[in-house]
Amino acid sequence: MALPLPAPNSTALVTGASAGIGRELARGLAARGHAVTLVARRAERLEQLASELADRHGVRTDVLPADLSDAAERDRLAAELERRGLTVEVLVNNAGFGIYRAFARSERERELQQVRLLVEAVVDLDGRYVPGMVERGRGAVLNLASTAGFQPLPGNGTYSASKSFVLYHTEALHEELKGTGVTATAVCPGPVETEFQEVSEPLFMARMPKLVRCGPEQVAQEALRAADSGRRTVIPGGRAVRAFFGPNRIAPARLALPVARRVMSREIRRGEPGA
Ligand SMILES: NC(=O)c1ccc[n+]([C@@H]2O[C@H](COP(=O)([O-])OP(=O)(O)OC[C@H]3O[C@@H](n4cnc5c(N)ncnc54)[C@H](OP(=O)(O)O)[C@@H]3O)[C@@H](O)[C@H]2O)c1
Repeated sequence: MALPLPAPNSTALVTGASAGIGRELARGLAARGHAVTLVARRAERLEQLASELADRHGVRTDVLPADLSDAAERDRLAAELERRGLTVEVLVNNAGFGIYRAFARSERERELQQVRLLVEAVVDLDGRYVPGMVERGRGAVLNLASTAGFQPLPGNGTYSASKSFVLYHTEALHEELKGTGVTATAVCPGPVETEFQEVSEPLFMARMPKLVRCGPEQVAQEALRAADSGRRTVIPGGRAVRAFFGPNRIAPARLALPVARRVMSREIRRGEPGA
């Protein structure tokens, strides 16, 4: 099972294409000849990328700015794709941010926004486009989970739970889709050097050994290769990343939680008086 070949009026919809991993995934898909539909909130960034990809690869590019945590904006996005006659044959759910502080000191509305973007929007877009892919017998879904979804993370609880949701949702979907011509791949990066560091401020990342960090280009390349081979899950970034984070998937919570508590100690204390 491979990524479908580009076809007339087909498009690869990439969310969170204005930065980081999403931008590199859009570049990788355009380099393979796919028309791309670029989605995020910062329209100007998307326009810049669209002209770069059209110039370099001669592919059709559509820019559809949207706040994907808003259900009405997702409706608007889907209606606009339909109006333009575009068929989503590759869907990349990548847009995201994370909250790195203890839940009791976090903002309720922001926690909800995180779930709406990381969970609700993924289910919504998969729900809109997977049935058509199955009907046509071709298509690929890449959902950005994270090694954060391998265990509960105190100080980052809603994010790690959301990424765990994306991982299970995608792996179950992968199994259901066998024999349909459609594939679903959960992409689980470890720490990646992107704007995520400034936007979400995960303090633990600075303490991670250099060996387990990687760039967004490598993540995108390995993610697309995994989708091309119809893989269920990929931990991009090389052997060190897989060795460092992989075992957390099977570690019991009674062992994983005390370790996670130490790793996330600064996030847990964030906002404490005197911290
Ligand atoms: N960086 C890491 O260490 C790491 C590790 C594992 C997994 N991940 C996951 O990988 C994905 C990409 O992360 P990244 O590192 O590339 O982060 P990034 O550089 O901060 O990019 C995040 C992207 O998401 C978009 N976005 C954020 N909120 C949005 C919203 N409400 N509606 C639409 N788009 C929105 C941003 O665009 P606008 O601001 O223009 O809307 C941006 O394009 C995320 O799902 C993240 O959780 C990241």
